[in-house]
Amino acid sequence: MVLELDDTRVSSGVSGLDGLLEGGLIKGRSVLLAGGPGTGKSILSWQFLFDGISKGETGVLVSLDQSRQLLIEDMSKMGWDAREAIDSNSLTLLSGDLRIIPRETGYEYMIAFDHPMLREQPFTVPRLASVVKEKAREISATRIVVDGIGPLLELAGSHFEIRQLVYSFMKEIVTKDGTVLMTHELRSQPRATNDEMPYFISDGVIKLDMVKSSGDFVRTLRIVKMRGTSHVMRPVMFKISDDGITLFPETRLPD
Ligand SMILES: Nc1ncnc2c1ncn2[C@@H]1O[C@H](COP(=O)(O)OP(=O)(O)OP(=O)(O)O)[C@@H](O)[C@H]1O
Ligand SMILES: [Mg+2]
Repeated sequence: MVLELDDTRVSSGVSGLDGLLEGGLIKGRSVLLAGGPGTGKSILSWQFLFDGISKGETGVLVSLDQSRQLLIEDMSKMGWDAREAIDSNSLTLLSGDLRIIPRETGYEYMIAFDHPMLREQPFTVPRLASVVKEKAREISATRIVVDGIGPLLELAGSHFEIRQLVYSFMKEIVTKDGTVLMTHELRSQPRATNDEMPYFISDGVIKLDMVKSSGDFVRTLRIVKMRGTSHVMRPVMFKISDDGITLFPETRLPD
């Protein structure tokens, strides 16, 4: 019997990036976008979503660190009309406010989604996964973005728990037609190896960085791994502008 593998590619939405990946991300797989603060994780993830929306696809965006209003405003500065996408059921925005409440026995995490259908509720990873899955199913989402998996990691104590939590979360929300992009904020001083643990679990890892060069900083993107495809190994320069992210695969990084 010949196994039929689905190697359909999904555009990352970033000019120049698909070419480094044999045509794009693999449909129905998960990619982790990791980087320090301000490296462009959110913008790249929105670009991926709106690339789909511009082609008639649908997406879900989960963001736990920015209010709905600010998110919509920031996207519109880049020319992406989230309000119109939400109104036409092309986009479901699940933004929320994560609260940590001290209790006698430890801490309780509550999440107040500012989605009209969802109220404040105890935050657990399986609960978040089921909400994302339900919302993705409602609009048959082909692209799912979780911008910031930090809160998931906060809920896990040990190394082992992180692996279990993130793995089960990803397994739950990935579908054969739904490609998942998750962002992960890296600290400049990694806390033990917990920061890199999610690298092992996702199908792909793309790292964004800002590196010092001739007294200035340049933005770089590097594909750390991408299961099921060959890819370019070297860091590639990119810029952020009002048009989002543009990659310069041919430009040599200054030494
Ligand atoms: N219109 C623009 N033109 C050029 N650069 C911009 C523009 N808008 C934003 N930026 C740059 O993009 C950065 C923010 O990108 P983004 O929000 O995607 O980063 P991030 O990695 O998600 O950060 P965080 O870790 O805070 O979530 C800003 O700090 C700024 O340097
Ligand atoms: Mg961000």
